[in-house]
Amino acid sequence: MCGSLRASDVGSTVNVMGWVANHRDHGGVIFVDLRDKSGIVQVRFETDLAQEYYAQAEKLRSEWCIGVVGEVVSRGDNSNPNLDTGEVEVLAKKLEVFSQSETPPFQIRDNVDSNENLRLEYRYLDLRRGPLQRALMMRSKINQITRNYLVNNGFEELETPYLTKSTPEGARDYLVPSRVNPGMFYALPQSPQIFKQLLMISGYDRYFQIVRCFRDEDLRADRQPEFTQIDMEFSFVTADDVMDTCEGLMKQIFEGTGAATINEPFQRMPYDEAMRRFGVDAPDLRFGLELVDVTDIAKTSGFKVFETTVADGGIVRGIRVPGGAEKFSRKHIDAMEPFVGIYGAKGLAWAKVTAEGWTGGVSKFFSDEEKAQYEAAYGVEAGDLLVMVAAKESVVCAALGNLRKKLGEDLELIDPDEFRFCWVTDFPMFEYDEDEGRYYSMHHPFTSPRPEDLGLLDTDPAQCYAQAYDLVLNGSEIGGGSIRIHQQEVQWKVFEKLGLSEDEAREKFGFLLDALTFGTPPHGGIAFGMDRLVMLITKSQSIRDVIAFPKTQKASDVMAQAPNYVEESQLEELYLKTVGVVREDEA
Ligand code: AMO
Ligand code: AMP
Repeated sequence: MCGSLRASDVGSTVNVMGWVANHRDHGGVIFVDLRDKSGIVQVRFETDLAQEYYAQAEKLRSEWCIGVVGEVVSRGDNSNPNLDTGEVEVLAKKLEVFSQSETPPFQIRDNVDSNENLRLEYRYLDLRRGPLQRALMMRSKINQITRNYLVNNGFEELETPYLTKSTPEGARDYLVPSRVNPGMFYALPQSPQIFKQLLMISGYDRYFQIVRCFRDEDLRADRQPEFTQIDMEFSFVTADDVMDTCEGLMKQIFEGTGAATINEPFQRMPYDEAMRRFGVDAPDLRFGLELVDVTDIAKTSGFKVFETTVADGGIVRGIRVPGGAEKFSRKHIDAMEPFVGIYGAKGLAWAKVTAEGWTGGVSKFFSDEEKAQYEAAYGVEAGDLLVMVAAKESVVCAALGNLRKKLGEDLELIDPDEFRFCWVTDFPMFEYDEDEGRYYSMHHPFTSPRPEDLGLLDTDPAQCYAQAYDLVLNGSEIGGGSIRIHQQEVQWKVFEKLGLSEDEAREKFGFLLDALTFGTPPHGGIAFGMDRLVMLITKSQSIRDVIAFPKTQKASDVMAQAPNYVEESQLEELYLKTVGVVREDEA
């Protein structure tokens, strides 16, 4: 391979094949940078080469696909320390042009500045770039390590259907019309959740699958409509067993790819603690800036906003930013107010603490006595900035959780080379939707309550906690799972709390409810987001950079032009008719 040649290869004859990344004709000597997926090597063509080959070499252009037979020679004083192969070059003896190339629509080099849409349209060319090739090869490696580790730990790799019935994970389903069953639809799985549980009932006590999942949801930088999970399920286990196996898997993946050394066990933190200290359920623990609750101090405040918010059942929390008084200008602080506004906060109370006392922002509203109380609560030192939000708890958490992250980035407190894992455990079973006046599952409806909370299912569902756990890496949720319900009567009760009537539950999940009556082992599992994992390991900015053929924010493939309109006859065959659609291709 081009990228593999080193000084130790000097003297050997090699046959390298790849693409012309660069060519320089110095009249009498031609240099070509030849690229394959392993990297780049310089090839030198000299005039004493057979005339036929030299004439061809003069015509070479970027992205032509060629093969060269030649001798590996030392570059001596002309070494290029920026290239892995920089100490050597291939002195060409033979050249074969496999195919010529049109001028590519953008330059193929590691650092690109061309528009992403254009690159997506010619994805096969973009995939020739080093960063993308390295990400995809990392992905391949992770697949391999995962399979080896899990098979060595007694797991079976089993497949579950794609054409199936809705599996709820909180998103919309992608539907597929059935030609042979008029008017009926399959749903593509949001995850293999129900099938993997059925496999446990069937006795395959350790299952895994590297599987595609489909979710029709609003896309973000870390979400795709189709994405890949490392999906696992175990029988006869506790949550600790699942977490231990996963820590071993992460260690193998990170160490096997050379990404980082991993220390077990990972930190664990209950959901309530994560929300209280960090405002989010996926905290980035690489830096401090923890949230501090000052509701008790704020309830009798000279600052009316605090007092009335607390009287109305709200809370007040804040962040002490060490050294923030000097580091942040007035303008910078003012910009934080609209930022927390995105998350529903009505304002941002701030004060700079100096050796002479508090200045700026809301300083004037507080008595010396009150200031002393805040200083004690925050552990303030001269030079700090205090920022606080008063609102209902969910707004305070979202506003400060996101502000904390932004402050961590702005102050460059985050070490980009650190990988910090954390299990977040003990999630609430349900989330209450005030608009719809009903409960939703925080994880999914098959998650088991903690044994000690079973009674609360009836009496106080909001206080009922689940045997659920998420694995968080550097502030990103990379995996989530739970111990499942294995008793039919508990499953019925959870469906009931979720507002499903008996008929609805039967219609949607009858086969699972039936299966639960035939000797169900206690079981649990987890799924990791493969794409997010690769993204974090390769430090990619976008999930699209770790998927060979990704979709845009509008869930489309601009290269293949999918989705697209279909022939009227195809619709008829499927008993379908589109309604209220103005076709762009006919407009
Ligand atoms: P969950 O819905 O938490 O759990 O998904 C597991 C992991 O999959 C990743 N993920 C995504 N990645 C890219 N694009 C998306 N649209 C997307 N959605 C989710 C995340 C997430 O942590 N069946 C359960 C698992 C279980 O209980 O065993 C499930 O699917 O990294
Ligand atoms: P005002 O008296 O409305 O001008 O507000 C004074 C300061 O309090 C401004 O910096 C506001 O951003 C801030 N503020 C207003 N409402 C809140 C709130 N709910 N939480 C925290 N600070 C607030």
